[in-house]
Amino acid sequence: SIRRKLIAGNWKMNGTMADSADLAGALADRWMKGPRPDCDLLVCPPFPLIVPVVAALAGTEVAVGAQDCHAKPAGAHTGDVAAPLLSDLGCRAVIVGHSERRADHGETDAIVKAKAEAALSAGLIAIVCVGETLEQREAGRTLEVNRSQLRGSLPVGATAANIVIAYEPVWAIGTGRVATPAQAQEVHAVLRTELALLLGEELAAATRILYGGSMKPDNAAELLSLADVDGGLIGGASLKAADFWAIAAAC
Ligand code: G3H
Repeated sequence: SIRRKLIAGNWKMNGTMADSADLAGALADRWMKGPRPDCDLLVCPPFPLIVPVVAALAGTEVAVGAQDCHAKPAGAHTGDVAAPLLSDLGCRAVIVGHSERRADHGETDAIVKAKAEAALSAGLIAIVCVGETLEQREAGRTLEVNRSQLRGSLPVGATAANIVIAYEPVWAIGTGRVATPAQAQEVHAVLRTELALLLGEELAAATRILYGGSMKPDNAAELLSLADVDGGLIGGASLKAADFWAIAAAC
């Protein structure tokens, strides 16, 4: 494939200073000692832990990202974090439109798109998340929902180098219930076709589409072997260095 796989850890709202020092330290050790996985690696800690995690991973090629950013580059937005600051702190990427942000904070496609555009303006890779709920899947709306979220959330200025798409079926997140290979491949292929319609064949063929939702060492190899699955966005299993590394080794 022309697409180098990406294994991204989303630590979500977990961990203390000490926990993150242990986890990032363990990842740095594995990087130094090898064997190194044949994929790109990224971890996304909570905001306050970005600085120490960047320091702990210095000298490795395990990149650091954030879990959200604001759509504006600065200003009166109490509690929010701007993309240019993330970039200044050493982040390479930011997740936008995770289903937990969409659900907990009412983020619409338009908001996600604006955040992704802020990320690109700050020189960050935008990891744009889409995914259907169980209710939508059971109503037969899976493909339509994913196409429409992608259409509405894609930033202007997207290239294969500055965006990554993450397909995360909401019913598979943190539930231990993983999409079957057929379910994952079906949606990934549809997302790639939609990308081609929106931005052209060349971009679609080169853009990475990650799967997220209860990816673990024991199911990673099968998911990562699918034609249109170009990596994973890992929640729970990214909190253990051994599991995260084992998933990456499956690339
Ligand atoms: O961003 C990560 C996804 O929401 C997956 O989380 O691996 O805990 O199911 P999970």
